[in-house]
Amino acid sequence: MSDLVQSSFADGVAVVTINRAEALNALTPEMLAELRELLSDFDREVDCRAIVLAGQPKAFSVGADIKGRVAEYDTGGARDPLGEIIRGLFSYMEEVSKPIIAALAGYVLGGGFELALACDLRIADATAKFGFPEANVGSMPGAGGTQRLTRLVGPAIAMELMFSGDRIDADEAYRLGIVNKVVAEGEAVSAAVEFGKKVASKAPLSIDRIKRSVYVATSSDLATGLEFEAVCHAFLRGTHDREEGMRAFVEKRSPKFIGR
Ligand code: CAA
Repeated sequence: MSDLVQSSFADGVAVVTINRAEALNALTPEMLAELRELLSDFDREVDCRAIVLAGQPKAFSVGADIKGRVAEYDTGGARDPLGEIIRGLFSYMEEVSKPIIAALAGYVLGGGFELALACDLRIADATAKFGFPEANVGSMPGAGGTQRLTRLVGPAIAMELMFSGDRIDADEAYRLGIVNKVVAEGEAVSAAVEFGKKVASKAPLSIDRIKRSVYVATSSDLATGLEFEAVCHAFLRGTHDREEGMRAFVEKRSPKFIGR
């Protein structure tokens, strides 16, 4: 592995950091492959209960690496290989059984914004700036942006942002429901880790089934979603952790969850 993506782990929470500050964390295939490998490692790590995805102070990410793509204009309408990698990774992030919390600072643009939208929650510091500049360069959000942003904010606001390419600040992103919380400059990672620690104290299978059920809610009709929720709920009823959680409540002690 190169050092394009770095990671640390403590108290049940992994912090995965994109580390290409000189190009404002523009996304490359190598970086995305490393990111996927790390997410998959932490997903398998039983003691890891939440993952924070962070960038650099000046940019979470400015999206696809434009410099590496200027020669790609004559493609005959073929699908974008980088786009396929990005789309695969972002869809995989939904399957990761632990919450992925984006810690956002600086530019969150284009594919970088789409990466943030592929996380389960977003915490931004006061310097974060969001936008979809793709139409300025003859492209369009192609890594889930048209779909995930629309599900979060509705079609009119999504189209306004993507048609105009306008940047919005962290407070506006909060007002629109794009970010869960805005914190002071430099505090996004610590705030995301704090939230991750809170999740780490919960029953892991509950968190996993809640995550899955919420994603089903965003992509299915109500009857399908309710049925999926009922199946997940029934599954949890047979787990060790549910019995432990309820016993601990009755015995007035803290539960010891083991993820089974
Ligand atoms: N790809 C590659 N390199 C990039 C980059 C990108 N997307 N964005 C910035 N950089 C590089 C710059 O070329 C510059 O490198 P050099 O010093 O070697 O010239 C370095 O990062 C710093 O950038 P600036 O000097 O431009 O910094 P700034 O603070 O003046 O401006 C900015 C920052 C407003 C983000 C500006 O760089 C910018 O507009 N970047 C393009 C952002 C963009 O269009 N992103 C969408 C990409 S398309 C996409 O993501 C499609 C998809 O669906 C996946």
